[in-house]
Amino acid sequence: MTTETNGNGIHIGNGKHYGLNGNHGEYPNVTVVNSRSVNYLLTKLRNKDTEAKDFMVYGDRLMRILAEEALCRLPNVQTGEVETPCGNARGLLDKWKLDICLVSVVRSGDILQEAVRQIVPGVKVGKILIQRDETSIEKLPKLFYKKFPKDIADCFVMLVDPMMATSGSAKMAIQVLAKANVRPENIMFLNLICAPEGLKALTDEYPQVQVVTGAIDDCLDENRFIVPGLGDYGDRYYGTEGSI
Ligand code: PRP
Repeated sequence: MTTETNGNGIHIGNGKHYGLNGNHGEYPNVTVVNSRSVNYLLTKLRNKDTEAKDFMVYGDRLMRILAEEALCRLPNVQTGEVETPCGNARGLLDKWKLDICLVSVVRSGDILQEAVRQIVPGVKVGKILIQRDETSIEKLPKLFYKKFPKDIADCFVMLVDPMMATSGSAKMAIQVLAKANVRPENIMFLNLICAPEGLKALTDEYPQVQVVTGAIDDCLDENRFIVPGLGDYGDRYYGTEGSI
């Protein structure tokens, strides 16, 4: 299979998708970021007694780590060598300049989006407002709004949303990106917690999309909430639990 790129590593023709270091065994394009700090901060967030102001602090710390882990897995980051003041060292380098567009699934995605933007100031940002319809049995996603930079099809897209339950929202976001001519192999989905049901559905439909996540939890409950999860990220972060 041939790989055609536009010179910036963005796939424009038929090609193989990017591989990731530290792949999850069952899913070749899924990376679970596993470190002591991720475990520690995620456990703080999972605790139902963590109040909103602490949730924000721990959450922002964790989003920053996830953002760094995602950025060093972009396709332009590859093994290379640098000269140190005392010799040569091998490591991971930016091999070429990659045009990135961050796309946030409003509202919880905005929190992760800001963590990436702190590291990559000036990065292009697109927005998709998709909300789960909690009144429907299947918790179907509803699209309300989208706005993308005009050259998004030439960018590598980092789609960000901390929570993936059924994956209805993430799949709808990818469909909306596809209508804007973004190819699945040029998308990385950055996420904090996913349910195995949602991850399977997403990877079955879009095996080319790279997924970087902090945890694959146990299952969905009868309301399609992630178990054990942490509740609703946006509500806990913004203090809007029981909102109207
Ligand atoms: C949450 C979450 C995802 C979606 C996940 O958002 O941030 O977007 O639900 O569920 P799914 O995988 O079953 O589609 P929500 O609609 O609650 O909006 P919020 O970010 O404003 O809390």
